[in-house]
Amino acid sequence: VSENVAFKLVPLSKGYYEFVRNLRNNPEIKDNFIEQEFITLESHNAYMDVNSENYQVCVYQGLPIGYIGVVANDIRIAVSPEHFHIGAGTFMVSEIIKRYPDAVAKVKIENESSLGLFEKNGFKVKYLVLERSTSEQ
Ligand SMILES: CC(C)(COP(=O)(O)OP(=O)(O)OC[C@H]1O[C@@H](n2cnc3c(N)ncnc32)[C@H](O)[C@@H]1OP(=O)(O)O)[C@@H](O)C(=O)NCCC(=O)NCCS
Repeated sequence: VSENVAFKLVPLSKGYYEFVRNLRNNPEIKDNFIEQEFITLESHNAYMDVNSENYQVCVYQGLPIGYIGVVANDIRIAVSPEHFHIGAGTFMVSEIIKRYPDAVAKVKIENESSLGLFEKNGFKVKYLVLERSTSEQ
């Protein structure tokens, strides 16, 4: 368990599965993720039963407000929109890099908040992935 004055990182126990799923499906933040599908209860629980050890939840004033995980060396992070801009993202990234110093972040090019977050924490853009544009994009 890591903490600073305001924030604490705790293991992602079963009691937090729905918090993470709801945040992951939140329309306000979903556009920022590469994977866009709605996450069902069944698929989420099955995924978390295998991967929850790689995730931690950020607790602020006694409530979960975000999560961070590293799966396949790739950092997955989200903060509840009502708690953006208070430093929770920075806290989680600075803690996770102590544990996974070589982990990377794959960020959509238009996701300025995430780019800013990682750059502020010492990450640099190293690669760009190019896709052929499709009619939906
Ligand atoms: C990216 C995210 C985790 C940032 O969380 P946060 O708790 O608001 O971040 P912080 O308060 O620690 O801000 C850290 C830095 O990020 C950058 N940042 C945050 N929001 C920003 C925004 N809207 N525009 C530009 N930069 C932004 C700034 O550099 C900021 O530093 P500052 O506070 O000194 O200006 C949050 O916006 C989020 O959950 N987004 C949706 C999910 C997502 O995009 N996940 C990443 C997928 S790779």
